[in-house]
Amino acid sequence: MVSRISLYRDCVRIMTEKNIESPEFDTLCIFQNILKEKNPLLKPEEELSPSQIYKIYEDVEQRCEGVPLQYILGEWDFWSYTFQVWEGVLIPRPETETLVENIIDLCREESLKSPKIVDLCSGSGCIAVTLDKEIDSSEVWAVEKFDEAFEYLEKNIVLNSSKVHAVKADVLLRETAENFENLDIIVSNPPYLTAEEMSDLQREVRYEPETALYGGADGLDFYRGIIPLWRECLRDGGYICLEFGDGQQEKVGEILLESGFCDLKFTRDSGNIVRTVKAKKV
Ligand SMILES: C[S@@+](CC[C@H](N)C(=O)[O-])C[C@H]1O[C@@H](n2cnc3c(N)ncnc32)[C@H](O)[C@@H]1O
Repeated sequence: MVSRISLYRDCVRIMTEKNIESPEFDTLCIFQNILKEKNPLLKPEEELSPSQIYKIYEDVEQRCEGVPLQYILGEWDFWSYTFQVWEGVLIPRPETETLVENIIDLCREESLKSPKIVDLCSGSGCIAVTLDKEIDSSEVWAVEKFDEAFEYLEKNIVLNSSKVHAVKADVLLRETAENFENLDIIVSNPPYLTAEEMSDLQREVRYEPETALYGGADGLDFYRGIIPLWRECLRDGGYICLEFGDGQQEKVGEILLESGFCDLKFTRDSGNIVRTVKAKKV
């Protein structure tokens, strides 16, 4: 018979041998997920059933092959909400919370009542759903092009009892933008990796969809596409808030200024990287 603690130690050992970065944390998450308990090691000597042991080893094996922990668990937390994720949808990142913070602060500073917000390239819906939940009387649309991501967007809206409007469309097309007018805020975390970065992805990131990561040769295709096109959908004095990659702030700033935006304000994420920009429509 196998006790919880002995299986836990064995899984940590296996992951350590395969150079997994945080074997204790990952093993604990897998235990929590399979056993549906918050503190599975509170009963260290309790025995596990053969099927529980099988499932735990199966998940550990996947993790050792490089499958991201979030895909193994099937869900991940962002802000204080849970989002379902699976291959085909980008895993919500902690740095994207900076973008959400920017918008919550903006609505407070400008005393925006019932702001109309569109989230472009919505993926799991982590930005749109969080804004909808956190900003009173907001009306939020989430635009996503790809089937698999859109399926999870719809699931996550329901899972979080959110009233976000999901729109399946290509954000780079004029006919998509033409459906929106008088918006207060446009927000986007578009694909922004360069061709060079795509050729040197961390093993885990290779499991995530290329369509969520690749932003063209210099990573800036979506900024060149979205900024001038969607400016027309903002009311005068409306805002655009964007996330971008490490080192892209200057180029994104230039595109904003050339496209009729002013008052650019950049923010660093928790890793001290300049990560987001907020700009006002002139
Ligand atoms: C970097 S991910 C961001 C996902 C989510 N907003 C987040 O912050 O976790 C970019 C998303 O844009 C979607 N996407 C890529 N090209 C698109 C397009 N032309 N129109 C709409 N969505 C697109 C991808 O499927 C992916 O879900």
